[in-house]
Amino acid sequence: MIPLLDRRGLFLGDMFMEQNKGNSLLSQIDLENLPRHIAIIMDGNGRWASKRLLPRNFGHREGMKRVVEIVEAATQLGIDSLTLYAFSTENWKRPEKEIDGLMNLLVIYIRNELNRLIKNNVKLNILGDISPLPNIAKDEVKRALEETKDNTGMNLNIALNYGGRHEILNSIKLILKDIEVGNISIDDLDEEIFSQYLYTRDQADPDLLIRPSGELRISNFLLYQIAYTEFWFSNVLWPDFTKEKLYEAIIDFQKRNRRFGGI
Ligand code: FPP
Repeated sequence: MIPLLDRRGLFLGDMFMEQNKGNSLLSQIDLENLPRHIAIIMDGNGRWASKRLLPRNFGHREGMKRVVEIVEAATQLGIDSLTLYAFSTENWKRPEKEIDGLMNLLVIYIRNELNRLIKNNVKLNILGDISPLPNIAKDEVKRALEETKDNTGMNLNIALNYGGRHEILNSIKLILKDIEVGNISIDDLDEEIFSQYLYTRDQADPDLLIRPSGELRISNFLLYQIAYTEFWFSNVLWPDFTKEKLYEAIIDFQKRNRRFGGI
């Protein structure tokens, strides 16, 4: 990622820190040791709503506000890639009303936020197969992809109709086709080439994976990419996951000793 500079030549991350000197959590973050890629399983919207005797879609709506907040915070810190799990291949099993509500929120999110994403130099990527999405959602996603395609700042990956196993199988099929037509040979195939067939091609693997809501599982998320990812779990439900929680996760990540199988 090309670092964003302001007119005085300060990195945007440094500038952000300067403006937020009073924030005690922020001041603990080491900008030299940021996770390049943060992935988040945005869980707990339904429980947040049920606790308040509200329909589940109210939880998703509140969850969307946290999406806006976390995208802004990650952009300001200077994170290279942020991946948000918005809809899994298994989420189609939910009631039609909830699925419609989620698709509607996606449309609202893009309509409300696209200008800000463009202004912040954010590049949108979709992880997953959007072909089964309703046309209105597909059209908005395509517009946002087109309008952010040349941006050089943070990659915002939204996992939509995404499943880790599906992604791996899809990559294998694409590789077999390329072998068949002679674009690559079996002997060429290595981890680097394999990763180019994943939805996250050209991006670093996640350094940090965050799952709120107290669940301790991966739920078919980025199965190939998380080989050496650090996990951070929190009992807070996604609609309560403010930027301070993101800072806490990053601070904890920075205390860890990553050995990648070495000593
Ligand atoms: C999981 O919580 C959350 C989802 C399946 C949807 C996440 C969607 C959003 C945060 C809003 C829209 C997002 C974008 C990118 C516009 P859950 O419903 O399974 O919660 P529960 O486990 O408490 O039932």
